[in-house]
Amino acid sequence: MKKSCLVLAAGDGTRMKSKKPKVLCTVLGKPMLGWVLDSVRKLELNQTGIIIGNNADSVKEYAISRGEYKFYIQSERKGTAHAVMQGEELFSDEYEHTLVLCGDAPFVSEDVLKSSFVFHTENNNDITVISSILDNPFGYGRIIRKGDSLDSIVEEKDCTENQKEVKEINSGVYWFKSSTLKRMLPKISNNNIKGEYYLTDIIRLSLGENGKVNAFLCESSDIVLGANTRADLSRLNRIARDKILDIHMEKGVDFPLTDGIIIEKDVIIGADTVIFPNTILRGKTIVGEGCTIGPNSLIENCKIGDNVKLNNVQAYDSIVEDNVKAGPFVHIRPNSTLKNGVKIGDFVEVKNAEIGDNTAIAHLSYVGDSIVGKCVNFGCGTVTANYDGINKHQTIIGDNAFIGCNTNLVAPVKIGDNATTAAGSTITKDVPPNSLAVERASTRIKENWKHNKLRLENKKSK
Ligand code: UD1
Ligand code: CA
Repeated sequence: MKKSCLVLAAGDGTRMKSKKPKVLCTVLGKPMLGWVLDSVRKLELNQTGIIIGNNADSVKEYAISRGEYKFYIQSERKGTAHAVMQGEELFSDEYEHTLVLCGDAPFVSEDVLKSSFVFHTENNNDITVISSILDNPFGYGRIIRKGDSLDSIVEEKDCTENQKEVKEINSGVYWFKSSTLKRMLPKISNNNIKGEYYLTDIIRLSLGENGKVNAFLCESSDIVLGANTRADLSRLNRIARDKILDIHMEKGVDFPLTDGIIIEKDVIIGADTVIFPNTILRGKTIVGEGCTIGPNSLIENCKIGDNVKLNNVQAYDSIVEDNVKAGPFVHIRPNSTLKNGVKIGDFVEVKNAEIGDNTAIAHLSYVGDSIVGKCVNFGCGTVTANYDGINKHQTIIGDNAFIGCNTNLVAPVKIGDNATTAAGSTITKDVPPNSLAVERASTRIKENWKHNKLRLENKKSK
């Protein structure tokens, strides 16, 4: 039995007041379309197609980055039935069932799609529409029943006052027998207030031909929620956020207060880790066990080990090994590795650098394009001068080196194991192991010397 799927994603962002296509508006950092494709992927369908609008290169590009899809262009937006029509190839005789769903309802879950399919096939339905009960059904198509069976779906704008009271709504997700879809779709007219070809009209038409049509009532109302406006989007973000925090709490993560905490869907966090307010964990971040993250931290695509403490840290695309302590006010830029036990203090920036075990960069320093050994001590105000205006150069520092305060390391440069640089030195030559490099004028003392202000005061008093 071959199954296909069509995701409707040709809508513009009119109601979102956005320049980008609606399905690319994000919930917890991930485009709504991405959430839908994630659930669909788990169904192992034979072919999935995405209906996109004109100038939807961004939608296409995004989808391609996530898997293999067919694309069908709906060049004029004439309604959901017209959109489905563009993907005709996917409800040809080759397929037995076709799943249709909207790219702007991100919480549709794999479980509901699977159980509704079982319901669809066990009942030998021509059409199964997934419905749900909403306290506030405004904006959704209403499921109109006659007794227990389905009568039609009526869109908000076409509802009578009585129909507006109906709380059972159409999720916009349907299983069709592919042959029914193929046969009935051309019969849909655009005779309604919006003048659009409504896919929902297929229910009434199919019933008129004695088709077997049923609604699969889904208990969770969240999974059907769609976003047409920014307010909807914000609501979805809040729902998704709370759900994800619940999952982490269940797994032993501690959130003393959840204020300002956003954790994206794919983030993994170990037990006994404490997350403090205003912490945002993004992308493919993994946090180990027993860590303290936050307050006020933003971590994106990082792998964080166990027992790490990050306070007021921003970190991107980097690895932070076990027992690292960083913060406050630390910026870890991409491609950095902080090895076991590293200590990074206030106002330090690390970029494209490997910092060896137990090394300390305690204050006000910049370490970029560097390889640093174990147990190195950086004095306050160390700067790797890595950029000559055209190229970036590397700094290499050996184990146990001691970098004095206010050292400039003009790259490319190597500091050997156990070497020391004197405070205030600008190092332009390699420093051999076990040696001291000093590059500064020695202090001269002029005795009985008054600075200008004192001289002036002396004059006045005379
Ligand atoms: C639709 C349903 C409504 C249901 C709701 C669930 C219809 C007529 N109405 O309403 O019953 O309760 O979804 O969220 O189907 N799209 C296209 N091309 C078009 C029009 C729409 O690709 O010409 C896509 C949109 O990008 C969107 C989806 O289809 O992903 C639904 O369209 P939208 O305009 O949001 O429909 P709703 O008014 O939400
Ligand atoms: Ca919608």
